[in-house]
Parts: sequence; structure tokens; C-alpha cells
Amino acid sequence: MSRRVFSGVQPTGTLHIGNYLGAIQQFTELQQEEDCLFCIVDLHALTVPQDPVVLREATLKTAGIYLASGIDPKKATVFIQSSVGAHAELAWFLNCIATFGELNRMTQFKEKSTNQETVSSALFTYPVLMAADILLYQTDVVPVGDDQKQHLELSRDIAQRFNHRYGETFKVPEPKILGVGSRIMGLDDASKKMSKSADTDLNRIELLDSPDVIRKKIKRAVTDSGRDVYYDEENKAAVSNLMTIYSRFSGDSLDTIQERYAGKGYGDFKKDLAEVVVEGLRPLQGRYEELSREPQYLLDILKEGAEKAGAIAEQTMKDVKEKVGIVRL
Ligand code: AMP
Ligand code: TRP
Repeated sequence: MSRRVFSGVQPTGTLHIGNYLGAIQQFTELQQEEDCLFCIVDLHALTVPQDPVVLREATLKTAGIYLASGIDPKKATVFIQSSVGAHAELAWFLNCIATFGELNRMTQFKEKSTNQETVSSALFTYPVLMAADILLYQTDVVPVGDDQKQHLELSRDIAQRFNHRYGETFKVPEPKILGVGSRIMGLDDASKKMSKSADTDLNRIELLDSPDVIRKKIKRAVTDSGRDVYYDEENKAAVSNLMTIYSRFSGDSLDTIQERYAGKGYGDFKKDLAEVVVEGLRPLQGRYEELSREPQYLLDILKEGAEKAGAIAEQTMKDVKEKVGIVRL
């Protein structure tokens, strides 16, 4: 029997190769065998201030990139979080289960809230909405990048606590974290992950960057002292990160890459890396172009996805309400 797979990506900024290698590439593999739901989590994006026009555009752009990356709406359900009201509704019930103490231990909240003038209460309860996303669909497996490990643990704890208190209601989900490439680091600073919210766009290669922009960003990427291309995460974090990117886009092993550039230095390596990335993204960019010419097609897919997801979510909500003692009218 196929397993239920759920994952989500926030529609903020343009997706970058960290999102692609850490998350979306797994999605396209999983959809072959498993029962997949892929969600654009717009309600999560609202935990920090968003321009409404930009959010709407980014939501559709993210959906377009999902499809352009090879997510097949015939195989997987693709939908927008807010189009299924049960996400926000279940989050409330789970907020009554999650504790302040455990949310206060979330490292991502600490990172996102430091140095901010105001911090929304939703940013604090963000992981509970994420648990709701996952638990609504009785999810078996959640493919995510390494940075979501702690949130996944919390989702499991919340599911178990709810089940313990009210009786078996939720499946307890397993994370699926990718090995090589589960944490792509910033091109400008290899000690921090590549991120949509980094200050400079030299930090990341966006999936829709033109070949020239990709070449420029790779040329300007930081490297380490010395000039040899070899993998050593501790002492050569920047070069190791670039090698990981090369390896994931080309399919060549790190050893092969190391041999290929022995005695050649960073310049040659970076030049080739840029071409590997340009070529790696070309098919995706082509499909995205095509999709942008048919905006209605995308909307139809998302509508159909919302209906399919909504039907599953409704079952879970019925059970949850029954269990906690909501009056049925
Ligand atoms: P976000 O951009 O935070 O919505 O992340 C969407 C997905 O991409 C999540 O599964 C993340 O774990 C993954 N992800 C984000 N940044 C990176 C990165 N630098 N390396 C690998 N995976 C990432
Ligand atoms: N928090 C995730 C991120 O920033 C996005 C997300 C929201 C998600 N809900 C989810 C990922 C459910 C997996 C499952 O990357």
C-alpha cells in the first residue's frame, strides 16, 4: 500500500536551489509510488508582514514552480493551504494541546524573532499550524530539509499527546530528511543556510534566475583559503557546499568531482559549476515559461487540489470534534 506523504513550502520570495535540492526534488521522486499532497503554505507566510499583492503572486509562482519541477498533478495533490479551511481550524485544537514551554524551545522561532521590532503571536505558534497541516491528512511521511527536524518532532509529540488524551485520532508522522544536500549553505556565507530571507540575493541561486545571473552569483560565491577543490565540511565549508551543489545537479559523486579538479583551482571549478547549474535548471525554467502562458490551467489544478485535500481533511476534523466534545448540530 502506498503511504501518505505531505509537505509544504512557503510562498515567500522565489524558491532557491536549497528548496529544490532539500525538498522539491524528493517530492517528484515520492509521487511515483506514494499518495502525495504538496501544499503552498500561505498562512505560514503571514506570520511575518507580507504585501498582499506580492503574497498572491508568490503563491501562484510557487505553485508554478512545483509543477515546473516535475510535480505531476495527475499523481500528486497540489493545493494552497488557505483553500482548505481545516488547517487553521485544526491548528486551534492543537494549540490547546501544545505547550508554551515546548514552543519556546523552537530554535527557528528564536532565529526569526531575534532583532525584530515586533513579533506576531502566530510566529510563535507557527509549528502548531505546521503540525495541523501534517496531521489533518493522517500523514505517514514528511519529506523536508534538515532545518525542519525540530518542527517535525513537535508534530509527533502533539499527535501522541492528543491520541493519549482523547484516544487514537492521528497517525504519528515520520520525517524523511535527505542526506547530501539536505542543507545547502549560503553562497555568501557558508556558515548559514541558503535562505529566501538572507539580506543579499548573492546568498542564493533562485530557480528562475537567468543563466547570466547564475554565472555571476557563482563567480562571486565565497571560497575558503587555499586553492584546492576537496570536500571537508569543517575546514572548507564553502567549497564543500559548492561541491554538494555540483554533485546534486550533475549526478557525479563528490570523489569524482574531487579527482576532476585536482590541481586545477577554484576558478575552473566555479566556471564548470555555473554551467552545471544553468543546465540543471534549464528544463524547469522552460516548463515554467510554458505554464505562465496558461494561468487558468494552474488555477484549475489548485482548485481540484483543494477539493481533494478538503475531502480528506473533513474526515479528520469530524473525528477531532467528536473526540474533544464539540456539539454536533
Ligand atoms: P522554506 O523556504 O522555509 O519554506 O522551505 C521549504 C523547504 O525547503 C523545507 O522543506 C526546507 O527544509 C527546505 N529548505 C529550505 N532552505 C533549505 C536549504 N538551504 N537547504 C536545504 N533545504 C532547504
Ligand atoms: N515550515 C516549513 C518550512 O518553512 C513549511 C511547512 C509548513 C511544512 N507546513 C509544513 C513542511 C508541513 C512540511 C510539512 O520549510
